[in-house]
Amino acid sequence: MIEDLQKLEKDALAELAAAAQEDQILGIRTKYLGRKGLLTGLLRNIAQVSKAEKPLFGKRCNEVKELLHTRIEEALQRQTRQKKDDILIKEKIDVTLPGRSVKYGRTHPVIQIRGEICSIFASFGFSVVEGPEVELDYYNFEALNIPKDHPARDMQDTFYIEENIVLRTHTSPVQVRVMEKVKPPVRILSPGRVYRRDSDVSHTPMFHQIEGLLVDKGISFGDLKGILTAFLKKVFGEDTTLRFRPSFFPFTEPSAEVDIRCVICKGRGCRVCGQSGWLEILGSGMVDPAVFKNVGYNSEEYSGFAFGLGLERIAMLKYGISDIRLFFENDIRFLKQF
Ligand code: DAH
Repeated sequence: MIEDLQKLEKDALAELAAAAQEDQILGIRTKYLGRKGLLTGLLRNIAQVSKAEKPLFGKRCNEVKELLHTRIEEALQRQTRQKKDDILIKEKIDVTLPGRSVKYGRTHPVIQIRGEICSIFASFGFSVVEGPEVELDYYNFEALNIPKDHPARDMQDTFYIEENIVLRTHTSPVQVRVMEKVKPPVRILSPGRVYRRDSDVSHTPMFHQIEGLLVDKGISFGDLKGILTAFLKKVFGEDTTLRFRPSFFPFTEPSAEVDIRCVICKGRGCRVCGQSGWLEILGSGMVDPAVFKNVGYNSEEYSGFAFGLGLERIAMLKYGISDIRLFFENDIRFLKQF
């Protein structure tokens, strides 16, 4: 029996020395040390050993068992290390290469302009409010004195959700929502997304506007001119020349469109300004008494002015961008220029 044990030890160690794969090593473990393994078998037959030899045999069995355990464990560890080395060599990981840097995002040019305009008006004492993009026909049109047959209500221009629910076509409904809630004086700015069924180099179905409204006692067209002039000079530079042009909006009376001297050709006439030398920047006017009536303001006591402008248009003029659709293509090469 002792000789059997010695042979078993020699065989097992020889097999282990030759085993290169993990499953081979595990196989050897099962073969010798498993429940039905060879060493376990020898131990089970201890009854056949003479009484005198039993203690020595038992001791040797345990020694062999321990030795095999240790050697198998070592072999497994060697194997794991080898596997890692193999991967490193095979995949050629060059640990000296510099890491890949994280790419930072940046503020979208339209949002940059929005922030700029909001902070200019904040310095004039205006606060920012927001309104819903899915809007009632009443706020988008009716309360703003836009009658039922107004072209803006045409299916071509307005996205209808239901007969009386639309995607707002402008930010002007926020004026009404604010005035319904608060008593004058009012001094608010409302930026946000607006929607129109329109798409070409200067129109996208979704774009951004900013609405402004100031209502108080004794507000005149002079205040409108003063505030809007100060604002546009801050955005386009102190030497900017302005023009107030009579216009029409159902919710203002009188109404004016504000132009600036073309920033591209400085007034000489070019493609961007359509040879006129002027660029249309915003719509404005004195709040129509009909609108005040809808929100319960007394137009004998209060007056005010409102204005609205498109943010993409301002960004296009400021940065010299010729196609509005570029803002919404999410091309990093375009966006990272601003
Ligand atoms: N809501 C108008 C539009 O989308 C812009 C506008 C014009 C807003 C005059 C105003 C305003 O508040 O007084 O074309």
